[in-house]
Amino acid sequence: MARTVASALLRAPADDARRSWRAAFRRVRAETEARAAHLSAEDQIVQSMADASPTKWHRAHVTWFFEQFLLAEHAPNYPIFDERFPFLFNSYYVAAGPRHARPDRGLITRPNGADVTAYRAHVDAAVERLIEEVPAAHAARVFEILEIGLHHEQQHQELLLTDILHAFAHNPTDPAYDSNWQPPQPAQGPRGFVEIPAGIHPIGHDGDGYCFDNELPRHDALIPKMRIARHLVTNGEWLAFIAAGGYTTPTLWLSDGWAAVQAEGWQAPGYWQERGDGAWTTMTLGGRRPVDPEAAVQHVSYYEAEAFARFAGKHLPSEAEWEVAARAGLLADGFGIAWQWTRSAYLPYPGYRAAEGALGEYNGKFMVSQMVLRGSSLATPEGHARLSYRNFFYPPARWQFSGLRLAEFV
Ligand SMILES: [Fe+2]
Repeated sequence: MARTVASALLRAPADDARRSWRAAFRRVRAETEARAAHLSAEDQIVQSMADASPTKWHRAHVTWFFEQFLLAEHAPNYPIFDERFPFLFNSYYVAAGPRHARPDRGLITRPNGADVTAYRAHVDAAVERLIEEVPAAHAARVFEILEIGLHHEQQHQELLLTDILHAFAHNPTDPAYDSNWQPPQPAQGPRGFVEIPAGIHPIGHDGDGYCFDNELPRHDALIPKMRIARHLVTNGEWLAFIAAGGYTTPTLWLSDGWAAVQAEGWQAPGYWQERGDGAWTTMTLGGRRPVDPEAAVQHVSYYEAEAFARFAGKHLPSEAEWEVAARAGLLADGFGIAWQWTRSAYLPYPGYRAAEGALGEYNGKFMVSQMVLRGSSLATPEGHARLSYRNFFYPPARWQFSGLRLAEFV
């Protein structure tokens, strides 16, 4: 669940606040449609694995979120668009009722894309009406849930891209999501390692801006004497890992990681293919392209990141070390290229309590067996990243834009 820290918008004069929220709502909703617009109707129904959802489902699910948690609760006489949709488009909210099985989302060819477009328009109109008409006494709560819904939709905007990339990577014709797509350019400047200020540092969200509840409470963390890499690990460095037998040397791997290498036949990061001449290609949002040795490695699992760190004689940073270094301005490419695996398990911060009710299921119930990634990726929507943001995935996952930076103790 997301917890809203009183934002500047919530304190703005009433008319300004309504105008600002309507603009923010339109901006986020339009971004989802802009991302989906690159895809055909057929593209939008495919589900390439249980973890990935169809574009059409993403477009409908984020809409259901507003219907379920905002309109049904706070919009007087709101008519549910279609009584069948909550079952189809609830993701994992047990308290919100029964839901369709996640691995079967790709089987839902009906409602079709046009039905989902109409659903979005219906909910858009109702949300805008609510923003306009909610009595001042209820406005703060309405805008709080609206804000959660917007950040939730932004998360799905990133998933929309990672999920379709996974589908396209399994298509022998190597489709391009956007043939004009260009990768973000890495920061220049000195490479190497830089010392993190040792001692006790506060981590977690502070200030007036938005955060999810898992970024709280802010608390002290003990940072040892150590250094962190300024830059992300590159494809060129990963090629050296492959050439040195990284994927065939069990002593470099955690036991579960080595089991994954064996079971999945991993020989390189996700989507990499070796051509006959020994050169590697990878799947990007612009289609299949040569692996650029200068670019940050992408689509590696936690297991691979951890094995690479051991190979390099280094470590992954903890999430606290990452955050302290980022707050000190020590990191190049902390944001906007690849999420960075940390060695931290995804656990509640000291004193964390999930909110009551269905929205309390947003984050808290996933705090086991996953690892934290920090920063943001090339697919993260503008305005969604922040220093305290905690992303999390299971250790074998590699369909996200996930990379790493190294750390070393001194
Ligand atoms: Fe969701």
